[in-house]
Amino acid sequence: MADKVRVAVLISGRGSNMAALIYAARADDCPYEVALVSGDKPDAPGLDLAQAERVDVLRLDGKKLGPSYWEGLQVSLGDARIDVVALAGFMRIIPASFVERWAGKIINIHPSLLPRHRGLHSHDEVLAAGERVTGCTVHEVTADLDDGPILGQVEVAVLPGDDAQSLATRVLIAEHQLYPRILAEFVARDTHPEALLDQVRALALALPEAAEKVSHGSPGFFVKGGKFFAYFSANHHGDGRIALLVKISGVDEQMMLIEGDAERYFRPAYFGDSWIGIRLDLTGTDWAHIDEWLTRSWRTAAPKRLAAMPI
Ligand code: GAR
Repeated sequence: MADKVRVAVLISGRGSNMAALIYAARADDCPYEVALVSGDKPDAPGLDLAQAERVDVLRLDGKKLGPSYWEGLQVSLGDARIDVVALAGFMRIIPASFVERWAGKIINIHPSLLPRHRGLHSHDEVLAAGERVTGCTVHEVTADLDDGPILGQVEVAVLPGDDAQSLATRVLIAEHQLYPRILAEFVARDTHPEALLDQVRALALALPEAAEKVSHGSPGFFVKGGKFFAYFSANHHGDGRIALLVKISGVDEQMMLIEGDAERYFRPAYFGDSWIGIRLDLTGTDWAHIDEWLTRSWRTAAPKRLAAMPI
């Protein structure tokens, strides 16, 4: 099985959603592990709980550190080889540079049915508006507050006699159900064959005159009037790997790549010396690099008039 995706949970307080994420991750088939818990308040009660649960904890003081807090956090996330950041009651405004660095890899939970009732007083607003239904939302984090693409929601009924506290308590139960499920789906996006093929396809077909056709049972990409330059291989010949196959210069380069990173690169069976397999089902796939591999391979397959084109 592929490595579990390494998640950092950032909190500011109690950490009950963090706990839900940690406990869900104890299932063998959960695709993520909570590799780090941190936040902006060094004495947040949730940090003590994470520590008791033997999760690595990083205590940082956002107030004291000022802007250097974000740099310190970034370095620590890198050191811990974090793939995805999950905010769980993290109450600090995040600078755009941090959001950009984690674009597509950072999610949050909010106690309302977004886009309704963004911000801090969701439950009071629901009650004041006399709404009969509220709920919670997990969404991707973007530069605008509580505004990224919605990944999942759970509805919660508002009862006669509810106050903000009773409503918050019930919504929290729904949050604990929603967050682990959506986080698992979100991280699986990066290891699921269909999702990986979509990403490869988008890059391959963006190359001039590229087209797709199934060849030897795998989706293949070729240049019209030229040859195949890439194949997407999902458990081909039962090898259990999801990989991209691209052209290289020959056996020397093939050996060099495999010796440099034997986990990621492999010699594809039946393809010979001028192809390399690059696994896509390991964490940390560098898609910019995959794009370069595809472009280079495309050049070798394209007819001369195309191959000379600047891309
Ligand atoms: C949760 O209700 C969460 O949705 C909310 O803070 C609470 C944290 O509780 N987050 C926000 O309001 C973010 N805008 P927890 O620390 O027990 O998980």
